Amino acid sequence: MQDHKITKILVSEEEIRAIVQRLGSEITSHYHGIEKELMVVGLLRGSFIFMADLVRQIKVPMVVDFMTLSSYGDGTVSSGDIKVVMDLDSSIEDRDVLLVEDIVDTGRTFSKVIRMLRNRNPRSLKICTFLNKPETRQVDIQINFCGVDIPNEFAVGYGLDYAQGYRNLPYVGVLQP
Ligand code: IMP
Ligand code: MG
Repeated sequence: MQDHKITKILVSEEEIRAIVQRLGSEITSHYHGIEKELMVVGLLRGSFIFMADLVRQIKVPMVVDFMTLSSYGDGTVSSGDIKVVMDLDSSIEDRDVLLVEDIVDTGRTFSKVIRMLRNRNPRSLKICTFLNKPETRQVDIQINFCGVDIPNEFAVGYGLDYAQGYRNLPYVGVLQP
């Protein structure tokens, strides 16, 4: 239920637009001249809004696929317990894959997905996240395309949820604890 108050805006709509545009050009330059289409893989559900905006700023041929993982229950602290709820539809073997996430917190989710996807022998595997919480990192992972660093606060909106609510906020805000 969306009955908590948003106490602070962390990333405004205007800032979101600028960040997505910058990431889009970075990704476009990086993959310029790519042989097969780029495979953009979104981690559901958090990345769905960011992904929709981001792909429209990527100017190389591409296809999309999605994967659903669950790492949190309905709480605000990472349980470290991650499972694949829905796997990719397509094979990533010999493909250039760009993994898209809403936020990297402890890094556990990404490190697990990266390990899993590397085993499937992609041609390359890069990582893009909209938000990054460097203070709470527990697993060292290399982020190739990073939107913006935020402090250790619980962020909602622009796809990010608290107990599945607030994903529809057009900005990223902090919930009243
Ligand atoms: P990690 O495995 O700790 O890096 O957590 C990554 C996942 O936890 C993200 O995909 C989010 O679903 C969730 N998460 C981490 N921090 C936040 C937050 O501040 N707001 C909402 N979800 C979060
Ligand atoms: Mg998520």
